[in-house]
Amino acid sequence: GRMAREAALWLLLLFSAHLLLRRASAIDRGQFPPPTSFLFGTSTSAYQIEGGYLEGKKGLSNWDVYTHKQGTIEDGSNGDIAADHYHRYMEDIELMHSLGVNSYRFSIAWTRILPRGRFGHVNPDGVAFYNAIINALLHKGIQPFVTIFHYDIPHELEERYGGWLSPEIQKDFGYFAEVCFKMFGDRVKFWVTMNQPNLLAKFAYMNGWFPPGHCSKPYGNCAFGNSSIEPYIVGHNMILSHANAVSIYRNNYQVSGPYNSW
Ligand SMILES: *[C@@H]1O[C@H](CO)[C@@H](O)[C@H](O)[C@H]1NC(C)=O
Repeated sequence: GRMAREAALWLLLLFSAHLLLRRASAIDRGQFPPPTSFLFGTSTSAYQIEGGYLEGKKGLSNWDVYTHKQGTIEDGSNGDIAADHYHRYMEDIELMHSLGVNSYRFSIAWTRILPRGRFGHVNPDGVAFYNAIINALLHKGIQPFVTIFHYDIPHELEERYGGWLSPEIQKDFGYFAEVCFKMFGDRVKFWVTMNQPNLLAKFAYMNGWFPPGHCSKPYGNCAFGNSSIEPYIVGHNMILSHANAVSIYRNNYQVSGPYNSW
C-alpha cells in the first residue's frame, strides 16, 4: 500500500544520500592511476612569480620594459618582486611537496639564460638557478615540466627586429630551446615549447594589452600596430619557431625513456 511505497521511497532517498556522502568523502589518490601514468601538479610562469628582475645578471625582458613604462599598467604595478620565487623557491617547492603533488610546470625566463638572446652569452647564473630548482624538485619526487616560452622575450630582440613580428625570432627561439635542452635535458623529460600562443597573438598584437602593446582601431587605441594583420604574422612566426624547436629536439636530444609511451 501507500505506507510501503513511502517507506521504500525514504529508504531510497537515505541510501542515495549515503552514497553521495560516501563518494564525496572517499575521493583519494588510490582512485586515480598510479603516478607512473597519472600526475597531479601545479604550474606557474617565470614573470608571474620570480621577481629578482635585475638579479643573477638577468637581461631586461619585454615585460620589464613594458610594465615600467608609465600608463601601460593601470595601478602601476610590475613583476620586479612578484612572489619573490627567485629567493624563496626552496620554500615554494617545500609547499608543493607538502601538498603531495608529483609534477610542477614552470617556465624558464629567456633573459636569465640568454640576457641578449643569441647575440650574447649563456649566463651561468641563470643556468645555476634553474638547475637548483630542477634538482630540488627531483629530490622531492616532483616531475619537472618546463615551458620554454611563457610570453617573456629578451628586450633586445624587440629592439633589434620587432620580436615575434620578424622571422628572425625563429632562429632565436631555436637557439634558446637548444640551450635549454643541452643544459637541462638530462633531467627534464617533459617540454612545452610555448604557453598559449593564440593568446599572445591576440593580447599583444590585437588588443594591445600585453607587450609590445600593438593594436589598431576598432580593436583598440594603440600608438603602433595593425590588429588585422599582425596577429597572423606573429602566429605564423610562432608556429615555425615551435617547429624549429621540435625538430632540434627530435634530431639531437630526444632519447627513449619510461615516458615514451605517453
Ligand atoms: C592594416 O594592414 C592592411 C594590409 O596591409 C591595410 O589594408 C590596413 O589599412 C591596415 N590597417 C591599419 C589600421 O593600418
